[in-house]
Amino acid sequence: MILTDVDELRKKFESVENLPSLPTVVQEILEVTNDPRSGARDIQGVVENDQTCSVKLLKLANSAYYGFSRQVSSIKEAIVIIGMEGVKNVAMSLGVAECFLELGKSNKKFLNDLWVHSMGTATAAQMLAKKAPEVSPSYAYCSGLVHDFGKVILAGEYGEDYFSLFARAKEENKSLVEIEASAIQVTHQQVAGWVARSWELPDVVIESVEHHHDAFDLNPPLQHVILTCIADALTYEANVGNGGNGNPRKISGADLAKGGVDEKTKDAAVSDILKNRDRFSALLQAAE
Ligand SMILES: [Fe+2]
Ligand SMILES: [Fe+2]
Repeated sequence: MILTDVDELRKKFESVENLPSLPTVVQEILEVTNDPRSGARDIQGVVENDQTCSVKLLKLANSAYYGFSRQVSSIKEAIVIIGMEGVKNVAMSLGVAECFLELGKSNKKFLNDLWVHSMGTATAAQMLAKKAPEVSPSYAYCSGLVHDFGKVILAGEYGEDYFSLFARAKEENKSLVEIEASAIQVTHQQVAGWVARSWELPDVVIESVEHHHDAFDLNPPLQHVILTCIADALTYEANVGNGGNGNPRKISGADLAKGGVDEKTKDAAVSDILKNRDRFSALLQAAE
């Protein structure tokens, strides 16, 4: 395997010029969400401001995957029919999906599987966050979308050599991050952290992305990071998509307790992933 100097890699992906630009609609939705005075009209304004996003969102809302009996012809109407949260989710997902597509087109199967896994993680994280008063469900959703973006970058840098690490983790019964650290001296969570910083995402999102594999080792523990970690593991458990981690964490009752998640909420998160699974790859297609 040809090793890239980690500092070089870091310099490259900490700089916005070498990264696909994250559509501003994602940032703006997070900002509006964070403002307690904002409401449906603000979300409508943010989405309408992004023409590309609006067109794709309406196309998706009118597709068979959403199955609404009436035509959705405006963002205002979309908010009424899909709900404010639904519109925010679709708009953020379309924005992040564009970045997945820009960097990962060369390996469609991997990209699609990873995308579906990321959407599953976002969906589950949001559901878990709804029961955690300290964690914003929209921030949790965004963290899920971006948590494995480092894999898109590493796959682009190392190609097949990177994919061979997935199999190695499984064979050696080790975690993927452990294998990455020993083979390429950098992990996908670190890389995703660089990207999240360059995109100027909120600190909560950066932390969740950067530590989603060592969430339970952080001291003091951070609930938003633990929820991203649990959501990631639940998506593997539900067998929806594939993040390439052949040896994902099995979430124990003690893990759930540390995240403040009860069994009922965990089950609701898994059923939310399963219920929406067909929409996940449809969204990536809509983003093209
Ligand atoms: Fe990961
Ligand atoms: Fe993941």
